[in-house]
Amino acid sequence: MAIRTIREIGDPVLNKVSKEVKEVTPRIQDLIDDMFETMYEANGVGLAAPQVGILKRIVVIDTTGEDPILLINPRIVETSGEQTGNEGCLSVPGKTGIVTRPNYVKVVALDEELNEIEVEGEELLARALCHEIEHLDGHLYVEKVEGDLMDVEMIDDDEE
Ligand code: NI
Repeated sequence: MAIRTIREIGDPVLNKVSKEVKEVTPRIQDLIDDMFETMYEANGVGLAAPQVGILKRIVVIDTTGEDPILLINPRIVETSGEQTGNEGCLSVPGKTGIVTRPNYVKVVALDEELNEIEVEGEELLARALCHEIEHLDGHLYVEKVEGDLMDVEMIDDDEE
């Protein structure tokens, strides 16, 4: 496993549409392992393959540090409710902004054996599912921010 370089806003790869995964080759298995390692090392709750420069529809998420979720070719099939709160992205370091998302999301995806799985999430997990899946279509949360993008330290004083 290896830590991969996280691409940052302004890198054109982040605005491209990723391709569906048809086969989990050893190379893709390595990519998945590296994505988890890279996400944990960066203290993120999610990472999409284009963020490490690979245009494939693969997402990893872990909102608690104990619930790793792998999604291949994910798509949102149901949403409900609404939540408004701060969001950030490993590709937009040091920044945060307010984004409104559904409070509940259901996703259909494939696991690493390419079996179909369903993942449901509320609150932070719902937010992460929406955010990461948007990366696969070349979108960053900054497009949806209400008001200004803020520096993280302006609101996260208590964590320092
Ligand atoms: Ni992101």
